[in-house]
Amino acid sequence: MKPVEVAVIGTGWCGGIRAQTCAGHALVRGLHIAETRPERLAEVANATHPRTATADYRELLKIQEIEAVYISATPESTHYPMARDSLLAGKHVFLEKPIAIELHEADELIAIANRSGLKFTIGYSQRFNPKHAFVKKSITEGKIGRPVSALVSRHITRGLGKKITGRSKLSPAAMEATHDLDFVLWCLEPAKPVRVYSQVNYGAMKEATGGDIPDNQWIMVTMDNGISFVVGGGWSLPPGYPNFATTWIEMIGTEGALLVDDSHRDVVLNTMKDGMRLPMSSMPGEFVDHAYAGPMERETIHFLEAVACDRPVLVKPEQARQVMELYIAADLSAERNEPVTLPLPESRPALAAGAAR
Ligand SMILES: NC(=O)c1ccc[n+]([C@@H]2O[C@H](COP(=O)([O-])OP(=O)(O)OC[C@H]3O[C@@H](n4cnc5c(N)ncnc54)[C@H](O)[C@@H]3O)[C@@H](O)[C@H]2O)c1
Repeated sequence: MKPVEVAVIGTGWCGGIRAQTCAGHALVRGLHIAETRPERLAEVANATHPRTATADYRELLKIQEIEAVYISATPESTHYPMARDSLLAGKHVFLEKPIAIELHEADELIAIANRSGLKFTIGYSQRFNPKHAFVKKSITEGKIGRPVSALVSRHITRGLGKKITGRSKLSPAAMEATHDLDFVLWCLEPAKPVRVYSQVNYGAMKEATGGDIPDNQWIMVTMDNGISFVVGGGWSLPPGYPNFATTWIEMIGTEGALLVDDSHRDVVLNTMKDGMRLPMSSMPGEFVDHAYAGPMERETIHFLEAVACDRPVLVKPEQARQVMELYIAADLSAERNEPVTLPLPESRPALAAGAAR
């Protein structure tokens, strides 16, 4: 184990949490940050005292001492070029989801990381949520017998929905339900998805923006062992707290069931000024003085430890690529109004080669 120098690219909401986590950690010998908004760069630099604070992330990639890079920039189209540049510069990479926009970009990133012996992982933070980890552990230990079906329903506020849809055209499946697709696929390993049917529902977001933006998306997935599961994700809730998120999980097995309430209604702050609020209810979580409520701090340290102690990462990029293929298929299904079979043509080398001839 040896302390390392790390960089965070894009210190907005999530990158700010990652920078703050790294700044206070004993395994970090030096922190470096890149952020294009000058006022946010100054704010995070003031809070974290980095060795370098720059608007140009390429400056950081030239610094030999930096071994690991967290990429938390938006829009999501920045993920692939930033991850590619970082991996080609010889850095271990933690990349926020989505891994890329196109499947071939994800394949290229995975190939570079594997070829170069670099750690490469994707921010599926909910795997570090103790409730989600408990479901995975219970299934691995056989507590509920053989899994038979699963359901995950997740909703966030329309404020967040506007923020996300304002910067990219990615669907609720790609941007939100993606966490739950990753979670259920992880729980059901080694089964693989073979078919998906999805529908989107329009309402408040379309009315508010005038754009082609659904309020939520429901996805039904069939696995190669015959199990099917349902995941739904939406971003049209009224505000209950900045970035409020609520989740309900059912995992049904042959010998038992797991019912998980992660709806974040367990702490209520009621004041004359603001009325009822649900603190500590966002997906990544937040610092509470010396404590942290949520999964993102632990996830950030996990990657740091993976690099400093040469341990494996929990979220393999190949798994993120599988999730990506699944939500792309879900979007196709919603568009065509019919089930879509997996793997997609671009993932079938023999077929793709045949098509090219
Ligand atoms: N794991 C989770 O729970 C979770 C939650 C929210 C968002 N996310 C993901 O994390 C990513 C970041 O989301 P966010 O809400 O923090 O976004 P954000 O918009 O708050 O922050 C992104 C930051 O990147 C900066 N940026 C843009 N281009 C840059 C560049 N070239 N160089 C340096 N900085 C640049 C922006 O100025 C902004 O401050 C998204 O891709 C999203 O999918 C994950």
